[in-house]
Amino acid sequence: MNRLFAIQRLRLARFNFVIWLAKCIYSGRRAMTGENSNKVSVAGRVGALLPDEVIFGCSPTMAGIQTRALRISRTDVPILICGEGGTGKEVLARWIHRNSEYGDGEFVKVNCAAIPGALLESELFGYEKGAFTGANNIKPGRVESAHRGTLFLDEIADLDLDLQSKLLHFLQDGTFSRIGDHSERKVDARLICATNRNLDQERQAGRFRDDLFYRIHVFRLTMPPLRERRDDIPVLAEYFRKLYEKQFEIQAETFPPELLEYLKNLAWSGNIRELSNGVARYVLLGPDAAIYQDLATRRAKNSGLANGYGEGHGMLKRMSKDAIKEMEKTVILETLRANQWNRRKTAQALKISYRALIYKIRDAGLISRRAALQKAQAGEPLSIGGN
Ligand SMILES: Nc1ncnc2c1ncn2[C@@H]1O[C@H](COP(=O)(O)OP(=O)(O)OP(=O)(O)O)[C@@H](O)[C@H]1O
Ligand SMILES: [Mg+2]
Repeated sequence: MNRLFAIQRLRLARFNFVIWLAKCIYSGRRAMTGENSNKVSVAGRVGALLPDEVIFGCSPTMAGIQTRALRISRTDVPILICGEGGTGKEVLARWIHRNSEYGDGEFVKVNCAAIPGALLESELFGYEKGAFTGANNIKPGRVESAHRGTLFLDEIADLDLDLQSKLLHFLQDGTFSRIGDHSERKVDARLICATNRNLDQERQAGRFRDDLFYRIHVFRLTMPPLRERRDDIPVLAEYFRKLYEKQFEIQAETFPPELLEYLKNLAWSGNIRELSNGVARYVLLGPDAAIYQDLATRRAKNSGLANGYGEGHGMLKRMSKDAIKEMEKTVILETLRANQWNRRKTAQALKISYRALIYKIRDAGLISRRAALQKAQAGEPLSIGGN
């Protein structure tokens, strides 16, 4: 019965996921073809997939960022947001925009790393008809679209030196010219830049202009990595669960406290984006499959096993089996420790028979501290997992 329910749930989740994906692709295509393009930019539409809310959580660093961000959002000074990938730089930039006097204007995002140099100039500043081969129509740039709004320059460290000087010129007095046009245009926009690189180093290496650095760096906010705000993980996880439940129209199980504790201890190299993806899997696949998949990925990543599994269905089966074993081993080890290595109590706590526990302990290569000591005294090699 349970199995039937799980299969139905997975089918429904997949169906909702496909519908959601189709909606995203459709709205992306409408943006590309220019439908409604007077209202929202392509970037803005993609950004609509970002959550509206910023979870500041309870860490003192984030409280400080919230206070400072709110204060500066009421001014028009340029802001530089630094931080590792996935820490929420863009989410914060959008929040500042909404809370500023530019909030009624557009939030125009330009990813400097995603657009090649020559194209980026025309994308930013626009061009006149006939400015170059292929310029068959007038095209206003993104800078113009940001008038009375916010210009968000993402991955600013990737801007090439030529464009850096053009941007500097624009920032000095808000004026610029479209390519192929000599008249100057004026734009009043709030500038927010973001980077996950160290701009001081880029400057020292001569890849980033000093003068531009000082222009965009009037105010710096540095987003902390998730591993430095572990206490916020449960709040963030809950937030994403509700978000994905709504998005996929599916009711997920609430998080068991042990799982939240487990999440708090992970490395989170992908920061909040990684957590958000993990919770999406949890909502779509249910807790068991999501956790096993997560463990399998982490295990492969950490030990370089990704290639060792080979390909195809067999690989998936073996990975799941290994992941389950790994998880079982961790749970058994923790329960043994919690019960001072008393195996009867441990078996009771795990609700399995004493014999099954002994078998699993052997299978996992776990040994007690006492056994380890005896082995060491006898000069025998120690197996993994003992404490
Ligand atoms: N404080 C937050 N509250 C809610 N969601 C967040 C928060 N920070 C990040 N996220 C989530 O994490 C994802 C990544 O955030 P964002 O794109 O802002 O990160 P980033 O720092 O710009 O990453 P990158 O450097 O890779 O572009 C977002 O889609 C959002 O779901
Ligand atoms: Mg970003």
